[in-house]
Amino acid sequence: MLYDALTKIINGMTGGPTMTPKQVCVVGTGYVGSVTGAVLAELGHRVICVDSNPEKVRQFTNGPPFPLLEPGLDELIVRHRGRTLTFTADLATAIAASEVIFVCVSTPTKLAGLARGSFDMTYVDLVAREIAKHARGHVVVVEKSTVPLRTAERITEILESNMNGSGATFHVVSNPEFLAEGTAVRDALEPDRVLIGTKPGDDFARRVMDELYAYYPREVTLHTNVWSSELAKLANNAFLSTKITQINAIASLCDASSADVTEVGRAVGMDKRIGNKFLGAGIGWGGSCFGKDVRALIYLLRNHHLEAEAHFYEAAHDLNYALRERFVMKMHQSLYSLRGKTVAVLGFAFKPDTDDVRDSPAIDIIRMLAEEGASVRVVDPAAGHKVKEFFPDGNAPAERIVVVKDALSALTGADALCLCTEWKEFRHLDMREVAKRMNKPGWVFDGRNIYDPQAVVAANLCHYGVGRGVRRP
Ligand code: UGA
Repeated sequence: MLYDALTKIINGMTGGPTMTPKQVCVVGTGYVGSVTGAVLAELGHRVICVDSNPEKVRQFTNGPPFPLLEPGLDELIVRHRGRTLTFTADLATAIAASEVIFVCVSTPTKLAGLARGSFDMTYVDLVAREIAKHARGHVVVVEKSTVPLRTAERITEILESNMNGSGATFHVVSNPEFLAEGTAVRDALEPDRVLIGTKPGDDFARRVMDELYAYYPREVTLHTNVWSSELAKLANNAFLSTKITQINAIASLCDASSADVTEVGRAVGMDKRIGNKFLGAGIGWGGSCFGKDVRALIYLLRNHHLEAEAHFYEAAHDLNYALRERFVMKMHQSLYSLRGKTVAVLGFAFKPDTDDVRDSPAIDIIRMLAEEGASVRVVDPAAGHKVKEFFPDGNAPAERIVVVKDALSALTGADALCLCTEWKEFRHLDMREVAKRMNKPGWVFDGRNIYDPQAVVAANLCHYGVGRGVRRP
């Protein structure tokens, strides 16, 4: 690891922290926990990853295949497993053996009750109670899961009121993750920033975290108070998701005029103050993070009686979800009706290079297409096997939804291509071959604006791209 060696040299020269191997426990092996655990092992620490699901523990211990698809993760796990990286369902023993404990359990959206929209903290609370019972000595408890503001106080209270004579001392730290699925390992090894939020005066926690992360260049490490760190995570996702929603709002205007959103986006993105990332217009964002975090932010703002601010995010949130129906409406109008039509949906995962389908726009789009009477063929290189979880056989409208292995088979005899996820195998489709296989006139509905409209039209197909209007041969 060249980067590692260089960091050590630089830190040594500048008097920065030097790497001291820590005994770490990571609770929860979802995307965040499994990547955090594997990367900490790669950084030289001894890591125990805990999950209450014994089947997941077995898969991580014996796989691949592992319970989730994340490029580069398999390699790290296999490299360190059985030596500095272990997997277990025994939370008590893992806690008792550790000096740093990462809480990486899920914090789903609360769907009912007065706190509807906020994070459900059941699992975090549960883990905090277990830490209180089993921890020994000075222990740093790290909030890694995305949590509401002031969770550090909540965890501290639970820790202190559930201790049963262990004499442990707790240091609660916020260290949010900014990993994006599909690039999570790279993001963790080369982060834009490592954010460490500690309680004022907690020098012990600050030192332990600095030693833990000695690998990273000092200029990417940012120390803040614990509350700023908690809020920065929500703010980060709020900025990213509303940036996408802004370009999508402009895309709607492009559709109503002759402007092309990809050109508008390119022009806007050249302004260095704005930047060219996250300006991809289309069917909007999905995934397990943006929706959950924006809803939690809206709840938080309302809780502080910040109604106008809450409205701002609510409008962005609602517009994002409206895009899914609008895309289906476009297909309905272009094909004159969806009833009896065959639509090949390319992509089921919420983004490429992952098999994660949580809040994937494709789910809503497929449901609407089938409910409108279309026959739907779904293709996804990694998440195809999950389609039937959402549309179980025997339940309407599942009888009109089939999973097909490859794009060209799905497109044979289809009336429309509906691109939902920009997997690289879909980017490079030969449009002339597609046109040969599809019914006439074949339609390409590009929900991620990956196809060149001219090439599609030259192949004798009709094209619609979000914010790019309709073009016919
Ligand atoms: C997001 C953030 O990017 C991470 O920084 C953060 O750590 C993570 O949430 C989290 O909170 O755990 P992720 O949801 O994995 O990561 O994926 P993104 O790459 O951000 O994509 C989210 C959605 O936005 C996808 O559906 C993607 O297709 C969509 N998107 C992205 C667009 O519609 N347009 C774009 O230009 C970019």
